[in-house]
Amino acid sequence: MAKLSPSILSADFANLARDVKVITDAGADWIHVDVMDGHFVPNISIGVPVVTSLRKATEGFLDVHLMITDPDKYVPAFIKAGADLVNFHVEVDCDIEAVLKEIKAAGKKTGLTIKPNTPPEAVFPYLPLLDMVLVMSVEPGFGGQSFMPNSIPKIKVLKEKITELGLNCEIEIDGGINLKNAPEVIEAGCDILVAGSSVFNAPDVPAAVKAFKAL
Ligand code: DX5
Ligand code: ZN
Repeated sequence: MAKLSPSILSADFANLARDVKVITDAGADWIHVDVMDGHFVPNISIGVPVVTSLRKATEGFLDVHLMITDPDKYVPAFIKAGADLVNFHVEVDCDIEAVLKEIKAAGKKTGLTIKPNTPPEAVFPYLPLLDMVLVMSVEPGFGGQSFMPNSIPKIKVLKEKITELGLNCEIEIDGGINLKNAPEVIEAGCDILVAGSSVFNAPDVPAAVKAFKAL
């Protein structure tokens, strides 16, 4: 059964603790936290103080997706704030291996993300250090965009390589995921579904979480 990590980007930020409780009570596995710096992506969302507050509000697993230019500068702060998994983009210009080792040394899970135009091979050198690879199925920056099907073959390539190397790395997908396209994504080998608008904009949020979990 695939894990569900609802993206709080589509939650009500004035009622975040309430919205997080609704999804975790309904059976969501993780809580996907989208951090944007207005530089790596053309949007600004939330940062370290919100993760600190979330940590006090929930015991749920905080799946932190950093869409920022300088993860090397900010990763320690997100770890201290209470992230359970720290995930950043392979497209950034920093010492990726050093940052991954820093996350691991803190006892947290590691993740690397590829944008829609980045080939899956870009993360191959880092796979032994990774708990998760995130395949973006929209250009990062905004919720509510349409799913890009070119993510499907990328999941398959990653799954094959992970299996070949005998690693435990999971594959997550993020962008435009709904109840219609999720089965195909799971079939391709995806382990974790991120879903923002299709969970939080649903007429009945707990029912949407349960429907994803029933797939
Ligand atoms: C986009 C974010 C996503 C976003 C997904 O840059 O990384 O996590 O919230 O939202 P939906 O599911 O609405 O595409
Ligand atoms: Zn995300």
